[in-house]
Amino acid sequence: MRVLGIETSCDETGVAVYDGSRGRLLAHALHSQVALHADYGGVVPELASRDHVRKTLPLVERVLDDAGLVAGDVDGVAYTAGPGLVGALLVGAVVARGLAWGWGVPALAVHHMEGHLLAPLMEPDPPAFPFVALLVSGGHTQLIEVAELGRYRLLGDTRDDAVGEAFDKTAKLLGLGYPGGPALARLAEKGAPDRFTFPRPMTDRPGLDFSFSGLKTHALTTLRGIDAGDEAARAAVAKAFEHAVVETLAIKCRRALVETGLRTLVVAGGVGANRALRARLEALATELGGTVRFPRLEFCTDNGAMIAFAGALRLAGGDAPTAELAVRPRWPIDELTPPAAA
Ligand code: KG4
Ligand code: ZN
Repeated sequence: MRVLGIETSCDETGVAVYDGSRGRLLAHALHSQVALHADYGGVVPELASRDHVRKTLPLVERVLDDAGLVAGDVDGVAYTAGPGLVGALLVGAVVARGLAWGWGVPALAVHHMEGHLLAPLMEPDPPAFPFVALLVSGGHTQLIEVAELGRYRLLGDTRDDAVGEAFDKTAKLLGLGYPGGPALARLAEKGAPDRFTFPRPMTDRPGLDFSFSGLKTHALTTLRGIDAGDEAARAAVAKAFEHAVVETLAIKCRRALVETGLRTLVVAGGVGANRALRARLEALATELGGTVRFPRLEFCTDNGAMIAFAGALRLAGGDAPTAELAVRPRWPIDELTPPAAA
């Protein structure tokens, strides 16, 4: 079962082919629109859609070529149907469904966050169900109890900004451009650890929800007292912000593992690429006698491989092809069901 996966939910065009029967990714390619949106300080939806129109089919051709496949070798086409930008999603959906129709193979709508959540399972020695998943991206901050493929219980969610969004907004305050998460993390590496202390929102009360908008405000207030040219102070602010985020996430992950009695933590989404977070959660897993798993760095952020992989698992599990061309800009992950059980 060879599945072509197409991801166009935001500002990356991702395409990949996953071979389900051999458990192997055959090829993948990514086109990032970061440069296209940089001048605007954020993703411009209409520009994103138009660029997906230009890039998706050439990427499909490249990926098939890299995998040594011709059209008739593909057994199914999976595409991200939400959550995400409606126009961007529609481009991927139309291309995927058109290809599937032409090739006479099933087309399958995939949930973007399920793709992220399953991405660590593509790595060698994959974690077994059940586990706790921490999804940390530009649009989501969620803790999920994953019983099996498609059975997800939301344990905690953000009340305001997603953690990636908090990274990006704070990076903007630091003058680091867009998307600022990775740039902020690089600046933080040079920062003195003890110069500033940021709060750890919502850790002093029970529950697994998050709130990150206050950290951005705290950064703004702290930066007001700092000379714009003081590089060491700016790095120390980045360090304190990152540390507060990492500690907050670690505290909630620990709670989620203790409350569910599970010992495997799976981390996915763009912020899962953050090295300080990876190191802190490794330490937490060791302390609890459990394990933590991440996707490789390039599959933390948006990519086509996770969509091809999720599609391959679902088609192999018995999911029926998706009958209608419909995308869902909002789509709660706990509405999903295991394959064939819908
Ligand atoms: O999963 P993703 O590629 O897209 C969404 O589905 O949102 O996540 C992108 C987010 C951005 O907010 C970006 O700044 C953040 O992940 N990010 C990071 C790092 N790499 C990406 N944040 C902190 N540290 C990083 N190393
Ligand atoms: Zn994503």
